[in-house]
Amino acid sequence: MSGIPSPRESFGSKFGIIAATAGSAVGLGNIWRYPYITGENGGAAFILIYLLIVIAIGIPVMLSELAIGRRAQQNVYGSFRKLAPNRPWYLIGLMGVVAAFMILAFYTVVAGWTLEYLYQSFIGGFHGKSPEELVGMYNGFIGSSTRPLIWFFVFMGLTAFIVAAGVKNGIEKSTKILMPLLFVILIVLIVRSVTLPGAAKGISFLFKPDFSKITATTFLMALGQAFFSLSIGMGTLITYGSYIQKRDNLATTALSVIFTDTLVAVLAGIAIFPAVFAFNIAPESGPGLAFITLPNIFEQMTGGTIFSIMFFTLLGVAALTSTISVLEVIVAFFVEELKMKRSAATWLATLSVSALGVLCVLSTSSLANFKLFDKTVFELMDFTTANVLLPIGGLFIVIFVAWFFGRDKAKEELSNNGQLKARYIPLFLFVIKFIAPLAIAFVFLQGIGLIKL
Ligand code: TRP
Repeated sequence: MSGIPSPRESFGSKFGIIAATAGSAVGLGNIWRYPYITGENGGAAFILIYLLIVIAIGIPVMLSELAIGRRAQQNVYGSFRKLAPNRPWYLIGLMGVVAAFMILAFYTVVAGWTLEYLYQSFIGGFHGKSPEELVGMYNGFIGSSTRPLIWFFVFMGLTAFIVAAGVKNGIEKSTKILMPLLFVILIVLIVRSVTLPGAAKGISFLFKPDFSKITATTFLMALGQAFFSLSIGMGTLITYGSYIQKRDNLATTALSVIFTDTLVAVLAGIAIFPAVFAFNIAPESGPGLAFITLPNIFEQMTGGTIFSIMFFTLLGVAALTSTISVLEVIVAFFVEELKMKRSAATWLATLSVSALGVLCVLSTSSLANFKLFDKTVFELMDFTTANVLLPIGGLFIVIFVAWFFGRDKAKEELSNNGQLKARYIPLFLFVIKFIAPLAIAFVFLQGIGLIKL
C-alpha cells in the first residue's frame, strides 16, 4: 500500500457518479452500434433477447464490478491483486487492460467519424444530396486514409486532455455538462423521425418480433452488445467503482445507469429505423447505418443544418464520455502499477493505443484487404472484445464475487456496512453464483459453436 503518495481521487457528488458512469455506458454503442447490430440480427426479436440479457446478466455483472472496485480502491489489475493476493485472479485484471487498448483503438475511429460529420454539417456538405449520394459520401470518406486518420488523432487528443485533468476536474466535470445535453437532442430527433412518411414500417421492424430469425448467434450478438453497451466485462466499472465514496449507494447507481443506457439504445433505434425504412435503406447495412440515415433525415427537415450540427456534436460527446472511461482504465493502471505521474501515464497510454488505432483507421482504406480470421483489424478488435473478451471477463468477475470474495464482503459493500437495507442481496448472490455464470458460459460457448443445442 505504500508508494502512493497522494490520496486517491473520488467522485464528488451522486449526480457526478451517475453522469460519469452513465457517460461511460451511453455512447457509440447505443447510437451507432446498437441500431446496426439490431438491423443485422432481425429487429424486434433481437431486442427482446437483448433486454432479457441486460436484466439477468447485465445488472449482476455491473453490481459485481462496482463492488470490487469500491472495496479495493484500486485500478482493475490492482483490485484483483489486493482482494486475492497470490492468486491468479490478477490475470482477469490484465485482460481488462488489454481489452481497453483494443476497444479504444477501434472505438476512437468511429468517434473520429462523428467529427468529420460535424464538420460536414457546418459546411453544408449534405446539402441537396440524394440518399445514394450520401451513401457514396460515407464510403468515400471511410475509404480515404488521411481524413479519418486526422480525426482519429483529434479525438484521442480530446480524450487524453480530459483524462489528464483528473477524475474530478476532468471526467466528472465534463460528463456533468455533456450527459444532460444528449437527452434533449435525442428526443428532438425522435419526434422528427417518427413523423416521417413511411415511418410505420420502421416502428414495426423494432416492435414486431419475428422469432424465425433467432439463432445461437443472435444470442451471442445480444450478449456482446449488452456487455459493450453497459461498459461491463473489462473493469471500466471496477475503475469507476474505485472512485465511488463509501457513503454512496452502488445498487441505485447500477440501476440508474442500466436504465439510462437501455433507454438511450431503444430511443436511438426509434430515431433511426423509421428513417431507414422511410428512405429505403437496408436495415442490415452495417456500421454505416447511423452515418447514412441521419444525414438523410437532416436533409429532409427544415432547419436540418442546425439539427445536424447538434446531433453530431452530441454523438461525438456521447463517444467522448465513453472514450475517457476506457482510457482511464489504462491510465489508472499505469499510475498505480508503474507509479507514473497522471499526465505521463495519459500520454503514454494515448500513444500506445494510437499505434493499434492507426491499423483500425486504415481498415476501411489501404488495409481493407488485410484480414485475419476473415476480418479487418477494425472488425477483429470489435468482434473479439465485445463477443469474446467482455463475456469471459464478465464471467470471471461474477464468479470472483460469488465464490471468492465471500458473502460477507459482498454484503458489506452493497449495504454500506449495514447502513442500507438492501433486501435484494440474497437474490443477487444467488444470481451471481449460478444463473449469471451459467447463462454467460452457455450463450458464449453456443455462440462460438463449441456446444450445440
Ligand atoms: N459502453 C460504451 C458505449 O456503448 C463503450 C464503452 C465504454 C465500453 N467503456 C467500455 C465498452 C468498456 C466495453 C467495455 O459506447
